[in-house]
Amino acid sequence: MTNVSAVEASFSMSGRAEYEAAVQRLRDASRTYYGAGYSLMDDAAYDRLRLAVLDWEAEHPDETAPDSPTGRVADGAAPAGDVAHTARLLSLDNVFTPEQLTAWGASLRRRLGHEPAGGFTVEPKMDGAAVAARYRDGRLTQIITRGDGTHGEDVSHVIGTVVGLPEQLPVPATFEARGEVLFTQEQFEAANETRAAHGAGVFANPRNGTAGTLRAKDRPYRLAMTFWAYGAVELDGVPFLPAGAGHAETLAAVARAGVRTTADTPAGLHTVATLDEAQEKVDAIAALRASLPFGIDGVVVKADSATEQATAGFGTRFPYWAVAYKLPAVERQTVLQDVFWEVGRTGVLAPTAVLAPVELDGSTVTRATLHNPADILRRDLHIGDTVTVYKAGDIIPRVQAAVVELRPQDAVPVPLPHECPHCGGGIDKSQERWRCAKGTACALAPLIEYAAGRDILDIDGLGRKYVDALIASGDVGDVADLFTLTEEQLTVASG
Ligand code: IVH
Repeated sequence: MTNVSAVEASFSMSGRAEYEAAVQRLRDASRTYYGAGYSLMDDAAYDRLRLAVLDWEAEHPDETAPDSPTGRVADGAAPAGDVAHTARLLSLDNVFTPEQLTAWGASLRRRLGHEPAGGFTVEPKMDGAAVAARYRDGRLTQIITRGDGTHGEDVSHVIGTVVGLPEQLPVPATFEARGEVLFTQEQFEAANETRAAHGAGVFANPRNGTAGTLRAKDRPYRLAMTFWAYGAVELDGVPFLPAGAGHAETLAAVARAGVRTTADTPAGLHTVATLDEAQEKVDAIAALRASLPFGIDGVVVKADSATEQATAGFGTRFPYWAVAYKLPAVERQTVLQDVFWEVGRTGVLAPTAVLAPVELDGSTVTRATLHNPADILRRDLHIGDTVTVYKAGDIIPRVQAAVVELRPQDAVPVPLPHECPHCGGGIDKSQERWRCAKGTACALAPLIEYAAGRDILDIDGLGRKYVDALIASGDVGDVADLFTLTEEQLTVASG
């Protein structure tokens, strides 16, 4: 199997055969994602393919496959499980531009027969897995996955490991919190360390890790995750929500009961009067994205009023009163073509990944940082691997993991250096970060030049040529020597 996004094909379909092939690729991608737990293609490639299929279906309604994945929750590929949901657990329709958000607003207006009067809420679209958490008399009794929206799987084995979903509430409330469970970035790194210590492969990304962790019932270790509610329903006929509660009020009731909600995230839950203001909040949350401690793949806009929600109603896959404004992908899959090593100012050997070019958050990425040899070994990275690469905002792109299932037969483990790539000398391998055995002396010239720079010692006129001469004369062997240089030593070096 090959990675689709690496090809970067922009997809348009000219005939039925191509449509059917595209539908099959969507099915394959969803099946491996929900079944085997890895992604054949990244979200950007998946969304593009799905939009092309939807376009074709809109133009050829008579030829649309009756079981097309576009019309089903989780593309009809999620394991359904055997626990019936109290009320359907639905997905969201997507928009990608301000114009599409305006068009969604117009369709909501048509359904209501008037301008929405109850305002909108705006909150992050967290990139994890949807679950329903059932509390009875204040005790967390069951956690269920979304499944096909009607039935989900019982994943109560994670009770006690999810921050934000306490096993015992301070009040004896009975209700079902609905929301997203995920690994925060910090939890993701801790999870991968635990897995490496148990000889298990690292997760390709937090979302795959979440799906895998919910599914795995017999691991010898437990991994901490986090939950934020984005909704709630009543359970067993026990009253919980204030009469006529809209979305913001519903989440406030959940928070009062002691469960975390999207309002508790650093991105927050915002209530606004108009869709224009909602767009402003979408932009504000998008701007926060790189600094958030967890992944978001969009921002969700909802009509706040319970009455307007009821009037707008639901389709087969999603409610008409809510929409996801999808943000550009910050994670893509591409091929790891090579790794080169450099010596930093402190003598540390730093590996850089050479990648097949991939569009990521507004730029073309061809290089990404890798941490150190131990990390490369822990991730079992091979040259030729399809890898997940993450970049958001000004963050330097980083390689997260290999998609092991897509590894070609001729892939080779990333070669580790046997000698210093700068001076050819020995390597000190006593720590996780390998260093040239000569330490800072190996890359002394860049170190001195850096120390003399404006941000540190700010020594006017001490450029690379001067530094090279001072090192060659033996007058400077480390940064401290700069402070004891005599006029004579400087004059000789400058001449
Ligand atoms: S509302 C009936 N709000 O995104 C309303 N969903 O792509 C349905 N998600 O299945 C969901 N953050 O798993 C909602 N703030 C949020 C969300 C959110 C993440 C997930 C959820 C949903 C998926 C749709």
